[in-house]
Amino acid sequence: MKAVIFDLDGVICFTDRYHYKAWKEIADEIRVPFDEATNNRMRGVSRMASLEILLEGADRSFSATEKEALAERKNGIYAALLDEMSPSDLSDEVRDTLRELRKRGLLLAIGSSSRNTKKILGKLGLSDFFDAVSDGTNITRSKPDPEVFLKAAEMLRISPKEALVVEDAAAGIEAANAGGFASAGLGEAAVQPLVTHPLAHFSDLLQLV
Ligand code: BG6
Ligand code: MG
Repeated sequence: MKAVIFDLDGVICFTDRYHYKAWKEIADEIRVPFDEATNNRMRGVSRMASLEILLEGADRSFSATEKEALAERKNGIYAALLDEMSPSDLSDEVRDTLRELRKRGLLLAIGSSSRNTKKILGKLGLSDFFDAVSDGTNITRSKPDPEVFLKAAEMLRISPKEALVVEDAAAGIEAANAGGFASAGLGEAAVQPLVTHPLAHFSDLLQLV
């Protein structure tokens, strides 16, 4: 194993709860039901694909312009929550594990569908930490398509067989598998049929590499 490619939201940091809060506000506004199960289906998929999942519960259809406006408003609420983040939002467990992996000589990258990736890494004090950052700004298809991880591997100049993908989402495990990567799954990703290594804790990664 030469490299570890990390999903961001729900793996490196707990921004997944901000996604939940922001979508909940939009859901209440347009009066569609929203719960944890719906939120879990949004993990790993793009902003627009998340909106489509939300709108499955709507009793009318929305035009493309309305959808654009809703997605933009959701991102405004989400970005305001991100503004409050600081390096203290990086847990000791994640920080220490990343440092130990780096000490062991592994290449470390981000593979996230989020277009807010660079902003979040900046808030966490991780702007210059990773060897490669592949995110929602350099892909055309989001997870479960493997594009974001394949781009990360390309940036690191390694093959999928040489990297482990760390994920919290079903879509992310599917993407890793489709790209030929081994995966480590946290939370609901740990119980996906395609996951290579189910993990109870982030720091359990140190036993795998
Ligand atoms: C993923 C999240 O990391 O990024 C998804 O798990 C989210 O829930 C996606 O929809 C896109 O995020 P953003 O920041 O570009 O709206
Ligand atoms: Mg995630």
